[in-house]
Amino acid sequence: MILRKTSLDPLELAVEETLFHLGNGYLGIRGNFEEGYPDIVPTIRGSYINGFHDTVQVHYEEKLYGFPEVAQRMVNLPDAQTLKLRINGEVFSMFEGEVLEYERYLDTELGHSVRQIRWKSPQGKVSKIIFLRMVSFLRKELFFTICEVIPEEGGLVEMESGINCAVTNYTNPSDPRVASTPIKHIWYDNAELLHDGGLVRCHTGSSGLHLAICQRHVHSPVGKVRSKQTENGFVTKTKVELPPGGVARLEKYTVFADSRRVADPGLEVLLAIEPCLQAGSEDLLHEQAGYLKNFWKASRVQIEGSEEANEGMAFNLFGLLQSAGRDAISNVAAKGLSGEGYEGHYFWDTEVYIFPFFLYTQPNMARRLLDYRYGILDGARQHAHNMGHNKGALYPWRTITGSECSTYFPAGSAQYHITGDVANACMQYYIMTGDLPYMAEKGAEILLETARLWLDAGHYDRQGRFCIDSVTGPDEYTCIVNNNYYTNIVAAHNLRNAVEIYDALKEKEWHLPVADRIDFEEDELAEFTRAAEAIHLPYDEKLGIHCQDDSFLDKPMWDFEKTSKSKYPLLLHYHPLYLYRHQVCKQADTVLAHMLYGEDVEKEIVRRSFEYYEKITTHDSSLSKCVFSIMAARLGMKEKAFHYYHSTLRTDLDNTHGNTMQGIHTANMGGAYLALVLGFAGMRVQDDHLRFDFTLPDDWQGFQFNLWFKGSLLRITAEHKDAHIQLVMGSAVSVQVEGKVYSIDGIHSFQGVVK
Ligand code: BGC
Repeated sequence: MILRKTSLDPLELAVEETLFHLGNGYLGIRGNFEEGYPDIVPTIRGSYINGFHDTVQVHYEEKLYGFPEVAQRMVNLPDAQTLKLRINGEVFSMFEGEVLEYERYLDTELGHSVRQIRWKSPQGKVSKIIFLRMVSFLRKELFFTICEVIPEEGGLVEMESGINCAVTNYTNPSDPRVASTPIKHIWYDNAELLHDGGLVRCHTGSSGLHLAICQRHVHSPVGKVRSKQTENGFVTKTKVELPPGGVARLEKYTVFADSRRVADPGLEVLLAIEPCLQAGSEDLLHEQAGYLKNFWKASRVQIEGSEEANEGMAFNLFGLLQSAGRDAISNVAAKGLSGEGYEGHYFWDTEVYIFPFFLYTQPNMARRLLDYRYGILDGARQHAHNMGHNKGALYPWRTITGSECSTYFPAGSAQYHITGDVANACMQYYIMTGDLPYMAEKGAEILLETARLWLDAGHYDRQGRFCIDSVTGPDEYTCIVNNNYYTNIVAAHNLRNAVEIYDALKEKEWHLPVADRIDFEEDELAEFTRAAEAIHLPYDEKLGIHCQDDSFLDKPMWDFEKTSKSKYPLLLHYHPLYLYRHQVCKQADTVLAHMLYGEDVEKEIVRRSFEYYEKITTHDSSLSKCVFSIMAARLGMKEKAFHYYHSTLRTDLDNTHGNTMQGIHTANMGGAYLALVLGFAGMRVQDDHLRFDFTLPDDWQGFQFNLWFKGSLLRITAEHKDAHIQLVMGSAVSVQVEGKVYSIDGIHSFQGVVK
């Protein structure tokens, strides 16, 4: 159990709906109260399928060439959560009568959430009510609820369940981080009644997608059951008469299927629900626990000496598991499947912040995330074409199916770096797994097409430097600049990696199929290398740091002293141009470049950059602090590293960005993991081995995690002064600790290496 609430604050409920959401990478259900709320309680009742979207026409008063005309939006599905209770004629609500006892928790070991209440009705009758809900990891279509009602004096219990297709998406016109225009996306087609529930069919307004949901109920004791159609679905009602202390129990099985994945969703749900019913609640709960046992075996990060840190880490890793798409048509949305912030779009968040967690702990899942990028490679080619490029693939800044959905290009489509981020994820996959066949099949095509893009996007200036103009780096408070350091270094790596992978394939004579597929001429390799060698990496001699871009360091500093706390995040209070004219960063940019590609940069330059950019970074983006934590740890600033780590860890749990109601921050969750593995354990790949530089926060006694490297599983443990690296499975692995390389074939202890 990692999240436990015992008090009810109506104003906190929308945040709790996010925290208690349940998902499995396909389906996500917000933690809404089954019985609903009074109208005055702010709530977002939502459930989602990863990648299940509608399209919306984008309206611009001044539409220029190449602006996206149609955007995609993840759709709020019909409501299948609702379960209304009437006990001895009184409607159950936590906002009426008196809540005598209340507890709600999320169990990340068992994979379900529980809400239990002792309730005194307005007429003074006491009942116990328990809800347990789970979204199955093994049966991706299944959302399962158990409800038990125990009226102390017995009596009549009535339950009303069903599916309602009259739903809309959440909108807020004054917040750019959620959709602004309310549009009805779900259209009800029909409902079929079954003896214990029903099936509804519906479709999206303009994307032409279809959805079916089947819901069936198992009651005990079996009372009077009646289903009937409603205007937008159906309801199933039951009545049972109980003796004092008797239990009315309902098991509610709801199964979803959509036309992006199957040809006939209606048939699919009917087929899929049957085995769930046959398995029954005990087996379903048991198999869920079994799945998670395996997950935690490989993925747990254990911190000795801080329960708070363990809970935070478990919450974040569980959040990632719940969010990540497992098929080639879905990925990890910025808010996972927990809410509608950023409209269910996939960003660079996946490759830079989330992908490494899966790569190190479940490489198969990481490969599936790459499959998605491979699946939209045609979309990226088309996007490159729309943006005026003759060759190559440019990944859209935000998308679901592969076309650009960003309607504000300065902080959207201009972020060309996402293309290099995807390419780098491919390369990291290869480095960590050695899976060359995958490169031959898919990865090399991504690397070569993205490398081509950089050649087309960049140019040589009069000094012969390869420059990339008019792009935006990760920092969204500085837009449309020339030679963003991060973008240029990402591009250089992309170009070099494309050459390296091509050569590796050629050595095995596996290069021809990919070269044929994309009409690749080997002359292009020399051009890639030439551009990478000549890349312009702006540097300021006076400050001794890399410049975020050509003009950044010449701009006036933001006046932080005069900016009151209420003005943050700045994006909600200042016109973008005003921000762009100042030295102020929303998030790590050059510091991130040093984290990912800083191995060849002098340590003193990295330190000075850290100190310089730290002063002007607001961390208004939740993707920022983890990077500062990692770099602080690598630079030996232990306390600072811990400080940044701690606020990364608790971003959603403490709602520190004030928008957790719109969904979890998945990149930040991945960042919390990276802060430990890349920061406190100082892990990086060097040549053909892993390198570790350990730092232990003073408040902790140690930490432990597992890591896959080229088919071998390692267990890394850091204690007060010593570290231990154990080969758990596979063949010997070379690791470097304090400058020396060791072959790990068993367990090896390193004395005094933990700072
Ligand atoms: C950040 C982006 C990020 C997006 C989605 C924005 O606030 O600036 O870097 O990709 O959120 O998480």
